[in-house]
Amino acid sequence: TRRRFTLTQYLIEQRRRFPTASGDFNALLLDVALACKAIARTVAFGDLGSMLGQPAPEVTTTVNVQGEEQKKLDVISNEYFTQMTEWGGHLAGMASEEMDHPYQIPATLQRGKYLLVFDPLDGSSNIDVNVTVGSIFSVLRAPQDVIDSGRDVVEADFLQPGAQQLAAGYALYGPTTMLVLTVGSGVAGFTLDPNLGQFMLTHPNLQIPEDTHEFAINASNSRFWEAPVKRYVDECLAGKTGARGKDFNMRWIASMVAEAHRILMRGGVFLYPRDTKDASKHGRLRLLYEANPVGMIIEQAGGRASTGREPVLSVKPTELHQRIGFVFGSKNEVERIERYHREPGAYKDDANPLFAERSLFRD
Ligand code: AHG
Ligand code: MN
Ligand code: MN
Repeated sequence: TRRRFTLTQYLIEQRRRFPTASGDFNALLLDVALACKAIARTVAFGDLGSMLGQPAPEVTTTVNVQGEEQKKLDVISNEYFTQMTEWGGHLAGMASEEMDHPYQIPATLQRGKYLLVFDPLDGSSNIDVNVTVGSIFSVLRAPQDVIDSGRDVVEADFLQPGAQQLAAGYALYGPTTMLVLTVGSGVAGFTLDPNLGQFMLTHPNLQIPEDTHEFAINASNSRFWEAPVKRYVDECLAGKTGARGKDFNMRWIASMVAEAHRILMRGGVFLYPRDTKDASKHGRLRLLYEANPVGMIIEQAGGRASTGREPVLSVKPTELHQRIGFVFGSKNEVERIERYHREPGAYKDDANPLFAERSLFRD
């Protein structure tokens, strides 16, 4: 039989590049992987685990800081993350979609030099219909004064551009459970062997094709899109007979982590752009625990991740739960979308003959 590496072996190999590394980083990632395995098991039991749907009466929080309804599995997944990673002594603090404020490592435990930021269950609206969901995580270095003093973490400690991430990854709870990881030298994919309970290296060097004819966007928002996005989608829809001269295919899972995985496997482009739906929100997805980790993985795999205007990894965050427009995937398509955003007059949609007429998404 073919010899396969486990996640542990892969991390040890990676660490050989840094002979002075303490091993804390690897230990942290293995704790994260354990949390993901626990979530995978819980998700796999579905209704049998009576974990679906509304939170049980003993769970008091039902709406998170974003005003979104928390499913019981959102809360349980969040607890798996905190409980399986806080004890190791590697973390200075954590932040999550499901926690309004940074999470402090209890005083009874040791504190370390890393920050863990995560979306414990992405796409959780899909849980009740048995469609793929996942967990997304990002590892940052804590500011030096946090490491030196061991003080409590504050929101500002987490507001680091995505380019400073040390590692990023996601787990996917689909037909198989997978873990996709970058520690800054390419992207590796692991498949959970259910017999061994181990993540096995199945995709050693994921690369996103530079070109694609597949796009993903929630078209029900089309009336709120800005002109460059309308232009891009209209051109895709026009297919062979339009400016692009080729037919496109469309996909929308409503689980960003699953879309990211499809794009890593076969290329494509994903857009959840900034739009005019709600002036108080600059996009749908969250910068720190959705866009940044997925952005790092996509760029490490040769793709591109953007706000439409600038590389997402260069954005200096201003808030823990900040939302942002997010466009990622095959390099040439994302660069085209960025170009449409830069072109003069591209914002004034009515002034631009390209979308004044003949949009399938218009009445
Ligand atoms: P979450 O379940 O963590 O709140 O995130 C859901 C996100 C993302 O996964 C997905 O792409 C998007 O929300 C779906 O948005 P629509 O509801 O507009 O389809
Ligand atoms: Mn999410
Ligand atoms: Mn979530």
